[in-house]
Amino acid sequence: MSYYSIQNIKLTDLANQFGTPLYVYDADKIIEKISILRDSFKNVNLKIKYACKANTNLAILKLMRKHGVEIDVVSPEELRLAMMAGYEGSQITFTPSGVSFDEIELAAELGTRINLDNLDVLEKFGQRYGNTKGALIRLKPHVFGGGNEKIMTAHPESKFGISIHQKAEILAIVEKYNMKIIGLHQHTGSDVKNADAFTQAASAILEMAFSFKDLEIIDLGGGFKVAYKDGDIVTDMQEVGEVLSNAFLDFSKKYGRELQLWFEPGKFLVSEAGTFLTTANTVKRDPIKTFVCVNSGLNHLGRPMMYGSYHDIFNASNEDESVKEEYRVVGYICETDTFSWTPEGKQGERLMNKVSSGDIIAMKNAGAYCFSMASQYNSRLLPAEVLVINGEAKLIRRRETFDDIVRNVVSVEV
Ligand code: LLP
Repeated sequence: MSYYSIQNIKLTDLANQFGTPLYVYDADKIIEKISILRDSFKNVNLKIKYACKANTNLAILKLMRKHGVEIDVVSPEELRLAMMAGYEGSQITFTPSGVSFDEIELAAELGTRINLDNLDVLEKFGQRYGNTKGALIRLKPHVFGGGNEKIMTAHPESKFGISIHQKAEILAIVEKYNMKIIGLHQHTGSDVKNADAFTQAASAILEMAFSFKDLEIIDLGGGFKVAYKDGDIVTDMQEVGEVLSNAFLDFSKKYGRELQLWFEPGKFLVSEAGTFLTTANTVKRDPIKTFVCVNSGLNHLGRPMMYGSYHDIFNASNEDESVKEEYRVVGYICETDTFSWTPEGKQGERLMNKVSSGDIIAMKNAGAYCFSMASQYNSRLLPAEVLVINGEAKLIRRRETFDDIVRNVVSVEV
């Protein structure tokens, strides 16, 4: 039953009330994930910094803030959204990649904590602020971890962070400008399931840490893998929590004072809270396979076509499990946009309760990197978003209208 409803509200009722395509988020699930993370690191001075690129809806940001979760942003626009949600500069981490120094200055003036991720900005920051503002350094630990190569960020060829092999250059700049380095950061990648990748990365960072005397923070990024389907291998939070906490406490003892341990998860906090509701426009029976064509596409949920991601898909309008069929679930975009990928990362079919046109087709794990990566491709409108909180469904973003598509168009005679 819970498969078909969120906090006792039926998915089909949500679809009727708000229309489709529709993103629905379950606040209880987010709160549950926050407490699992806190529990796993209960022995250390933990700070959770939600990587809001996963889902920047203002209501989600406010929910995080209400539950004591701080925030990680990567652009001036995310920074503004964080402030709109009520965060103070000091609660915001700015972790950009290859941005202009103007953006770094803006974030510094607002009092955020900044992860400097190349030698050039490190030098500019030193020149500009000397020891008047603290900063963190993002390191590249040369570790392989992540669900696929597009979302691995700590390996030798990755564009992210300053290589740990450039320690001498880092220290020379820090000394030259008498900089106050308050933290070291690394982010391994996304969908990291093996605890080993986390511990390897952590030990590379902690080893470096002894060369910095003003540290207050060790930031180990995000990337915890969540379940996309039954039986999926996920990051074992108990294990990761225990191993990393011990390594961190051991380091703190040797370093001479207790530091804060930061994580900046995105998926872990919001992926499973989201369900994407679409409507089956048609069931197309081809001699070889049967397609369910829904009123959405890779423009709204791009992860399957971008990364071969698996999203559980089911017929929310039909709970009768006795008649099942295999369907290839596809979108309406004018290029191949299959939602139903196999666990092996190929386009495929799913066994689903019989689908008729008009049925509500639901997709799970739609809370992270789904709406936030959606586009207007094919001049389609962005979906609405709803948050289910305290047993009530609240609209948190209106569906776009045609006006939104032409808002910035400048009409010229040609
Ligand atoms: N910290 C940094 C510096 C990051 O770059 C990211 C994600 C995170 C934290 C959060 O990672 P998470 O806990 O969500 O795995 N669009 C891709 C994921 C890209 C992740 C980008 N960086 C996807 O849909 O799988």
